[in-house]
Amino acid sequence: MTRLLHIQCSPRLRRSASLEIARSFIQRYQQQVPDTQVSTLDLWSLELPELDQTAMDAKYARLGGQPLNAGEQSAWDRLQELAAPLHQADLLVLSVPLWNFSIPYKLKHFIDLVSHQGILFSFDPEHGLQGLLREKTAVVSYARGLDFSAQSNTPAQAFDFQKPYIEAWLNFIGIADQHSLVVEKTILGPDIDQASRQATARQAHGLAEQLAARRP
Ligand SMILES: Cc1cc2nc3c(=O)[nH]c(=O)nc-3n(C[C@H](O)[C@H](O)[C@H](O)COP(=O)(O)O)c2cc1C
Repeated sequence: MTRLLHIQCSPRLRRSASLEIARSFIQRYQQQVPDTQVSTLDLWSLELPELDQTAMDAKYARLGGQPLNAGEQSAWDRLQELAAPLHQADLLVLSVPLWNFSIPYKLKHFIDLVSHQGILFSFDPEHGLQGLLREKTAVVSYARGLDFSAQSNTPAQAFDFQKPYIEAWLNFIGIADQHSLVVEKTILGPDIDQASRQATARQAHGLAEQLAARRP
């Protein structure tokens, strides 16, 4: 069985390109691996707590080896609870829009809530930093409104703070096996948008078949 977790990061449920591509991947993967168990984390319907003073005190008390008081423990438990689905999944699928050349604030909020020592990574002087989500695969569906090719006005090398950031974060938390699906030009007119979605959906189908085929 594959436990697939889809982390939805676009609030645009009806026309989201990142969601459409992620769904194309998931549907084809499910066809290939029928006992796939899919769960969804919609960051826009989830109540994300503030990373407030109490949560900070909990984090730094733990780093300093100090006991947590009841309020700090409860704040820390909530962060662990938010991260639990990531630990439980074998295959993470993220659908990520590009907002202002980076990621939507809800996703950054989620990342800040769950990326802590003892939750998604460990540290000790002998081994240094180690991500705790090893042995997992991530598929990320990135959607962008403009053209990010090298000859465009917004070449990825200078303007893309979405994909490099997500790749670095996934690596940091231990996921080296990453695959990306990029849908661009979604705001350059309906024809261009449609062609772009269709081309990336075909790639999503191919990737789903490839990942399904390599299962033991
Ligand atoms: C708040 C906001 C900021 C955006 N900023 C950019 C941007 O910097 N560059 C770009 O190419 N597209 C930008 N767009 C367009 C989106 O990347 C595009 O509509 C994409 O399809 C969004 O993904 P989604 O369809 O999955 O929601 C922005 C859209 C929104 C709503």
